[in-house]
Amino acid sequence: TTKIVLDVDTGIDDALAILTACRAPEIELLACTATWGNIDVAQAARNTAYVLDIAGRSDVPVAAGAAGPYDGTAPEFSTTVHGADGQGGRADLDFAPVLARESAVDLLLRLSREHAHELEIVAVGPLTNLALALDADPDLPSRVRAVTIMGGASFVPGNVTPGAEANIWHDPEAAQRVFDAAWPVTMVGLDVTMRTLLTEEHRARLAAGGRAGRYAADILDHYFGYYAQVTGERTSANHDALAVAVGCGLVSTVVAPVVHVEVDTTHGPSRGRTVADLRGMWRGWPEVDGARHRVVLEVEPGFEDRMVDLIAS
Ligand code: BDR
Ligand code: CA
Repeated sequence: TTKIVLDVDTGIDDALAILTACRAPEIELLACTATWGNIDVAQAARNTAYVLDIAGRSDVPVAAGAAGPYDGTAPEFSTTVHGADGQGGRADLDFAPVLARESAVDLLLRLSREHAHELEIVAVGPLTNLALALDADPDLPSRVRAVTIMGGASFVPGNVTPGAEANIWHDPEAAQRVFDAAWPVTMVGLDVTMRTLLTEEHRARLAAGGRAGRYAADILDHYFGYYAQVTGERTSANHDALAVAVGCGLVSTVVAPVVHVEVDTTHGPSRGRTVADLRGMWRGWPEVDGARHRVVLEVEPGFEDRMVDLIAS
């Protein structure tokens, strides 16, 4: 099994990622760390604890992390996509979460020591918590086996601006900090997540399942409604669960040879864009030597079916 900490800004697709991590026998979910992003960090932590409760996994600790971007500017949330509560209006506002006493950074650092060289981080929100953890302990990368992120777009358009994907756009400086650190980073970007769709047929199978399945079907109703405005189809991308699947080997992938990724941290029109050197044009540049970035170009089809079966079971 793969031991993971899942860093989430629990919106709708994050909830599916959490349910998948709870149900897949290949995964040992050690903890969730919550970050701001789709909604504020308090609501993200609450949603995370609620989804774990639905999965029957309230034993998994949830620690709250960063409330806004690494550079100290004000956060902007994605409530038009995920609803004011991050769960398409389905969050249980009476649910009183029991959160870890530690901060997200402290929990991450502690688990990285307790599971040194085994722990993997799967991060599916803005990368602020990871950047702060690197600041708190620059040796963190030496203890972490791998980092997989849902974020970026290498050869398809962004989803917040023409160039930028939401998780990177929310906090480009944090993303750059994570790409610069001495750990292997696998990027599961819009390149692949926009091609792995959830459909009404998946939603019907979820709705026929147990409590977790019914909840997933409910929140997807909102997500499909949002996507329908953008694409004209009641489907959605399966962003965050796909990153879990890639990080934990639930799907096989085609990955570009190790390349160098830079994040645009300027304040121009491509702020937050990930620039991946897929043709090796930066080879020989000093900062590129030792690049540890893997960009997922293709994923084996069929993961959505497996995910639906896991969550509905
Ligand atoms: C990413 O942005 C968020 O809204 C989703 O949860 C996902 O992590 C997709 O761009
Ligand atoms: Ca997310």
